[in-house]
Amino acid sequence: MHLPITLLTALPLWLPAINAYTPLSESFLRAIPSPGNAFDIDQASNGSLLAPLLIPRVPGTPGQKAAQAHLYNYFQTALPLWNVTWQNSTSTTPATGTQQIPFANLIVRREPPWAQPGGTNFLTLVAHYDSKRAPEGFIGATDSAAPCAMLMWAAAVLDKYLTQMYTEMSALGEGGDDLAMDMGIQLLFLDGEEAFMHWTDTDSLYGARSLATQWTMSPNPRPHHKFYKYRTPLQQISLFVLLDLLGAKEPRVPSYMPTTHWAYKALAGVEKRLRGFNLLESSSSSKRDGGETLAFLPDGESDTARARTARISDDHLPFIHKGVETLHLIPSPFPDVWHTSNDDGEHLDLATVRDWAKIVVGFVGEWLDLMEVWTEPEGEGQGQEEATSGNDKETMEKESTEGGKASFAERRRSFLTSSFPP
Ligand SMILES: *[C@@H]1O[C@H](CO)[C@@H](O)[C@H](O)[C@H]1NC(C)=O
Ligand SMILES: *[C@@H]1O[C@H](CO)[C@@H](O)[C@H](O)[C@H]1NC(C)=O
Ligand SMILES: *[C@@H]1O[C@H](CO)[C@@H](O)[C@H](O)[C@H]1NC(C)=O
Ligand SMILES: [Zn+2]
Repeated sequence: MHLPITLLTALPLWLPAINAYTPLSESFLRAIPSPGNAFDIDQASNGSLLAPLLIPRVPGTPGQKAAQAHLYNYFQTALPLWNVTWQNSTSTTPATGTQQIPFANLIVRREPPWAQPGGTNFLTLVAHYDSKRAPEGFIGATDSAAPCAMLMWAAAVLDKYLTQMYTEMSALGEGGDDLAMDMGIQLLFLDGEEAFMHWTDTDSLYGARSLATQWTMSPNPRPHHKFYKYRTPLQQISLFVLLDLLGAKEPRVPSYMPTTHWAYKALAGVEKRLRGFNLLESSSSSKRDGGETLAFLPDGESDTARARTARISDDHLPFIHKGVETLHLIPSPFPDVWHTSNDDGEHLDLATVRDWAKIVVGFVGEWLDLMEVWTEPEGEGQGQEEATSGNDKETMEKESTEGGKASFAERRRSFLTSSFPP
């Protein structure tokens, strides 16, 4: 038996971070930058991540190629530490006869520098970049250009924290030993979500079905350890977070999944704290008569998901069917503009788009336990509101062992270490 010495010595150093977990502090939440012009809808706007996607993006058309180029070039130039790969397939569709239509999923990953091939677990953020074939000229701003742009922006904000986290862990000789240490982020920009004619099991989810199947059938390279952590890329998905139909004003995204309701609550908690610190723009514009702000994520205080809500068919289905745990961020009801010509840039509520992007960054930050690498500014971080007080770690640890109420950290950990059905 051979156990590398670095693993043995590394153990105690980072371990406390795994069982403990610190909610993002006020100063951290305040430091999440404003998206600025990232979501400008004007094609002439310099630096907009969204505007180039506000075109018809039907698979097999030039718009699809333009959207692909925008996504690909962005990561190549702005985020060189992220690994960008395509997963391609072709299929006939009921609308296009015998012609093979190309579908290309873009997979974008940031993983620890010490990661062995197939050794990283990925918090996986997903949106589809194709648009619907009809009505003619359909843009699909909420469906799902805006969610794609949110993920692009979130990656850029998270990039520096990931660098810091990986650098500090590397310096301490940590990583590679514990599952929770090998956390990465994966973005999936899926193609062919929309039906070409009428939604059926075979006329929809072209990209997602192809990717889920391919990942099931592609074993990871044999590790030099005696065991596989994750036998396939599918198993490397710790949680599949799907964003869809986001960008219209006053969205209500209920909790759909009983098994990931704990993660929904964490997300809702981030929204609540951001609002509490007045860091969300929509809070001022969406107040009820009584002055109460409507939450995007209204089920955060609920103990259970709305398990009886019918499952909405979407890109997560092929993954759910293969045992992947998912969190579905789609409003109910759908936006009024859904699948109409009005789902365009002009009908987006940009304050809502920017708020979603910040909420996503906060959620990922908590998932990665970024407070471990966050330095409170001098003179701050003391005596703030409950949720961010100094003894969070102890509190969370207690919660995790008392009263049978598992903490976020414990639930996350069990997700990272759970094995999938064979
Ligand atoms: C767009 O922004 C980039 C980077 O900020 C800058 O270098 C470039 O000159 C700008 N282009 C235009 C046309 O304003
Ligand atoms: C990117 O990922 C692919 C597929 O996992 C791998 O073959 C390639 O070596 C990676 N590239 C870099 C630069 O890490
Ligand atoms: C996959 O599709 C992308 C996007 O269209 C393209 O750039 C790439 O060359 C394709 N890769 C292969 C191996 O065909
Ligand atoms: Zn759609």
